[in-house]
Amino acid sequence: MPPVKKIGVLTGGGDAPGLNAVIRAVVKAAHNAGIDVVGLEDSFDGLLDPSRSRVLTPRDVTGILRLGGTILGTTNHGNPFEYPADTPEGKVDYSDKVVDTFHKMGLDALVVIGGDGSLSIAHQFYLKGIPIVGVPKTIDNDIVGTTSCFGFDTAVDFAALAIDRLHTTAEAHKRIMVVEVMGRYAGWIALHSGVAGGADVILMPEIAYDLEKVAADIRKRESFGAKFSIVVVAEGAKPVGGSHTLREPARAGYVERLGGVGITVAAQLEELTGKEARCVVLGHLQRGGGPTAFDRVLATRFGGAAVELLRRGVFGKMVANNPPDIVPVPLADIVGRTKTVPLDYDLLRTARAVGVSFGD
Ligand code: F6P
Repeated sequence: MPPVKKIGVLTGGGDAPGLNAVIRAVVKAAHNAGIDVVGLEDSFDGLLDPSRSRVLTPRDVTGILRLGGTILGTTNHGNPFEYPADTPEGKVDYSDKVVDTFHKMGLDALVVIGGDGSLSIAHQFYLKGIPIVGVPKTIDNDIVGTTSCFGFDTAVDFAALAIDRLHTTAEAHKRIMVVEVMGRYAGWIALHSGVAGGADVILMPEIAYDLEKVAADIRKRESFGAKFSIVVVAEGAKPVGGSHTLREPARAGYVERLGGVGITVAAQLEELTGKEARCVVLGHLQRGGGPTAFDRVLATRFGGAAVELLRRGVFGKMVANNPPDIVPVPLADIVGRTKTVPLDYDLLRTARAVGVSFGD
């Protein structure tokens, strides 16, 4: 394979704090290695229409390390293999057009910064002959093969600070405060922010909950004088025998949207305990704003490692955090899999040991 001289970089799926830090690292490391970089706008859309791309030089990425969002834009419903369209099937396969544009633009390789969805698409394009390196991104921390993803630390930090604030008002009013956090089908954000914020109850997708048990645990707190409780609920949490609460079902080109479990939990706990309950949904506040120092460092390491792989001609891999190293992991190994919280995870066991209720 001839040396890589020109690469494209794109951000796909939902945004996560640290995307710009990766773009910056890719552009600067590539430039210093004599590789030109083209930024592709709005995920793979930038490869459907070449006018939606621009050359990125170190000057273009100066000052973006600390910025949230992504200077390239993104979308989580732009899968070229199933592009939403006004057709009887509701979708069209534009993947050949993407491959064609990739070659017409004179690109030698692609860096795809995305979550499980975008990395699965990247893998499909790798199988279609595009040399690809993936960079894992998600606030949910649910990508297999990497111990962590940038964005997660920022989301947890924000949620923990929100829980701190809710503590004071919960205590003043002797209420139950229910905080709904993101995370999709994994409870990483709920568990980590709940422990960091000192939550009394954490409900997460991996452990089906029984609100009678939660109510009993809240009553127990009353018995030693704690008249308020903080309940962290992951958006993907489900009751015993029940399923996730959906805001919107899946449709062609769009995945299902979770959300709404917090308000139900608050209403039911109010009934079961006789105490006032309120619900706060943190939603996209967890994804907005700049990355923490940890996420800036991880994102920069990922960007640098991605360019290193390109220089070595190693493709079809995702850079992954495997402390103390950043290592390549085959994209094929992560496709279609979700990293949920293991039930023997030490933090889960410790949370139980210090008295956190999981409603089971
Ligand atoms: O995957 C990141 C995430 O923020 C999830 O936690 C959440 O379920 C989803 O994306 C929300 O997606 P959207 O931005 O489309 O509402």
